[in-house]
Amino acid sequence: MKKIFIIVGTRPNFIKVAPLLIQLKNNKKYKTFLIHSGQHYDYYMSKVFFDELNISPPDYYLNIGSGSQGYQTAEIMKSIEIVLTKNKPDLMIVVGDVNTTMAASIVAAKLYIKIAHIESGLRSYDKKMPEEINRIITDSISNYLFTHSRGADKNLISEGISKDKIFFIGNIMIDTIINNLEKIQSREKYREFNLSRKDFILLTMHRPSNVDNEEIFRSIVGAIEEVAKNIKIVFPIHPRTVKMADKLNIKLSKIKNLKIINPLSYIDLLSIENDSRCVITDSGGIQEESTFLNVPCFTIRENTERPITIDIGSNILVGTKTKDIVSNVENCLNGNCKQGNIPELWDGNTSKRIIEVINHEI
Ligand code: UD1
Repeated sequence: MKKIFIIVGTRPNFIKVAPLLIQLKNNKKYKTFLIHSGQHYDYYMSKVFFDELNISPPDYYLNIGSGSQGYQTAEIMKSIEIVLTKNKPDLMIVVGDVNTTMAASIVAAKLYIKIAHIESGLRSYDKKMPEEINRIITDSISNYLFTHSRGADKNLISEGISKDKIFFIGNIMIDTIINNLEKIQSREKYREFNLSRKDFILLTMHRPSNVDNEEIFRSIVGAIEEVAKNIKIVFPIHPRTVKMADKLNIKLSKIKNLKIINPLSYIDLLSIENDSRCVITDSGGIQEESTFLNVPCFTIRENTERPITIDIGSNILVGTKTKDIVSNVENCLNGNCKQGNIPELWDGNTSKRIIEVINHEI
């Protein structure tokens, strides 16, 4: 029986591997092992996703925790090398663009273990983002590059990656939404915060480029203050954002109509997202989910590695300047919201297509 190892470390990773684990569960050809690096470790950043998405506890927990970019990457590499050397898997599956993804890929490549990268080929062309470095390195050493859009294929080809390694299979996050759609639609989580359906905005913000930079952080907060004069905003706050707001003495709790809450579980977040009038976010996953749910999305970044959500979906890139955020959001609140479509192969069958490729290739 062939051995497949899958590595996860952060919130978005758990969401992406859930449908794949369902497909692999009773597969007689492969024995699957899950490694959790421990990059995210708080209950509400990690375990709640395992519980809600029915992911079995990891076979290996590396307990890495937080740290600087170099520290975290190095610690993951040291620990994962021990696990992979002992087990010699036939295939290592990595997802997304977080430090865990890149660290695991580098170790696997040097041990001659074949690597499959899910969500390959995304590029923001902004090397100031740690994720962009993680994407480029992971793709350059992966053997099977699974992409969610034709644009991602083009990016890889332009970097000289051979076409035979690229497999356009669609967006695995949409499998997770579709698998949980009934629960998402019936949860009505907004009621717990005394909100009315389609009469509030969901805000998420955690990128270092937004919250580690005082000027940009204050510029976004200025926009939130302005928008909150007209509509309630619910803000599940990431630990990084809490830490930086405290450090910079930014008093988010003073903003009227802004409801700050702990990070939400998957179904709760998707429920809030689906029932919101629109979302303001710097998250990659939320840009894609809102496109699938056809909820208008305002991305508070200067670039996105997910241009398909703009070209086809309901996303608008608004940057981080107060006036640009406010004018775009108010335009939507005044009834001129962007309507989008669902991109090709974002259909709930991506994990099945991945297994078909794996069956054929390994
Ligand atoms: C990471 C990913 C980012 C992804 C995000 C999803 C990288 C480079 N970044 O960012 O791409 O969008 O996850 O959430 O891999 N912390 C806690 N508890 C936790 C985890 C983190 O308190 O369970 C705090 C710590 O203070 C830590 C900080 O959050 O220093 C940042 O965590 P880290 O894993 O370094 O990156 P994220 O900002 O979460």
